[in-house]
Amino acid sequence: MSKSKFQTMGQQFGRRSWAEPWKIKMVEPISMITAEERLKACQDAGYNTFLMRSEDVYIDLLTDSGTSAMSDRQWAGIMMGDEAYAGSRNFYNLEAAIQKYYGYKYVVPTHQGRGAEHLISQATITKGDYIPGNMYFTTTRLHQELAGGIFVDVIIDEAHDPIDQHPFKGNVDLDKMAALVDKVGAEKIPYVSLAGTVNMAGGQPVSMANVKALRAFCDKHSIRIYLDATRMYENAFFIQEREDEYADKSIAEILFEFCSYTDAAWMSAKKDNLVNIGGWLAVNQAEVAEKARNMVVVYEGLHTYGGMAGRDMEALAIGIAEGVEDDHVASRVRQVRYLGKLLLDWDIPIMEPVGGHAIFVDAKRFYNHIPQDQFPAQTLAAQLYLDSGVRSMERGVVSAGRDPQTGDHRYPALELTRLTIPRRVYTQAHMDVVAESIKAVYDAREQTKGLKMVYEPEYLRFFQARFEPI
Ligand code: F0G
Repeated sequence: MSKSKFQTMGQQFGRRSWAEPWKIKMVEPISMITAEERLKACQDAGYNTFLMRSEDVYIDLLTDSGTSAMSDRQWAGIMMGDEAYAGSRNFYNLEAAIQKYYGYKYVVPTHQGRGAEHLISQATITKGDYIPGNMYFTTTRLHQELAGGIFVDVIIDEAHDPIDQHPFKGNVDLDKMAALVDKVGAEKIPYVSLAGTVNMAGGQPVSMANVKALRAFCDKHSIRIYLDATRMYENAFFIQEREDEYADKSIAEILFEFCSYTDAAWMSAKKDNLVNIGGWLAVNQAEVAEKARNMVVVYEGLHTYGGMAGRDMEALAIGIAEGVEDDHVASRVRQVRYLGKLLLDWDIPIMEPVGGHAIFVDAKRFYNHIPQDQFPAQTLAAQLYLDSGVRSMERGVVSAGRDPQTGDHRYPALELTRLTIPRRVYTQAHMDVVAESIKAVYDAREQTKGLKMVYEPEYLRFFQARFEPI
């Protein structure tokens, strides 16, 4: 049986809970420091959760990137590392796993996702090209811009509305695509940058119907589709759940079909693929693969390791197969939903529908008295840490950065604080503690003031910017 067993059980007997398809074999102790210590840690970190020490954090929901728990099989794979400089056995296992599950022909390993973004951007973008995308991701757009590209958002309007219940808020708006082609000409558009479950939109999926229609459009105009496959397993889960024809297909089958409508993919393997470090680029066109291989040796490492150790590639090859299992993906998304439901039950404003990897609290509604240039989402992340040592991150005006043309802040419609759930790491009780802390911060919202930015780095400012309370 391919589909999650819990799904069928639930239909048969009224209330039947789901549970994770694993048990815990090794634990890492965590503890909460005192309120005074948290205040000091927050001040030392300039009110930026990226600048905190992890030892000062209790429940770490900064990211789901590289924070997954590996399985006993992956750890066994670590012992099977072939650390040859060239032609490591583990590379061939990795290549075979990517070909089997994602279906692309040529594989170039990289140290993580942005390494692959760098290679594909430099290999395919000419200065002045336009890169349409279903909303931006920070590192993805920056690499496209550094290669001379101009990013154009072509996601459907519903994606910018935090309460619209559209089931596929990650979809590309084909009218926006057609308008762009009319305006700049298809020859100025090397590819569409398509992300499965759109991170900045709240982990919202793209439907199979949409990618098929996009493929037909792009074929007509000779435009390629490159996929950010970082969280495609979760995207496949939403397709299985929400598109009738896919209800009886496995996550693996859905993934394979979705990828077949695209020409290449880059991957941050630190997410869906269940490893702590790693990434890859996989493409169908030999000439793009060749350019990427020529560059990988300059920036990452030889084309059979790309910045990873042999053992990392082995854990990754195993993680690719484990991560795509239906029960795993179902329990992962349902844990996120569990947290979301607790918050919705208390009328705390979050991005809806709940997406695949995180809860995004809508900081504009949460702190409706704090203007966007006083960083409401950054404020909420700091307040949550001060309350309970729970670490989250800003995904709003700080993350959006400045417009390269005008130099002004970009003011995104979505001003969100992300609580990202690592895979196979925290329990339901941890989710309860997180929800109760958000509730406490919400109850104190009217007394809360915003922040001012006192240090701003040039690139990806959200990582290192510093703030002070107003
Ligand atoms: N694409 C998406 C959709 C991502 O979420 C990320 C990373 C990347 C590309 C870049 O990959 O980190 O391996 O270099 N997202 C992390 C996050 C950092 O917390 O969402 P990377």
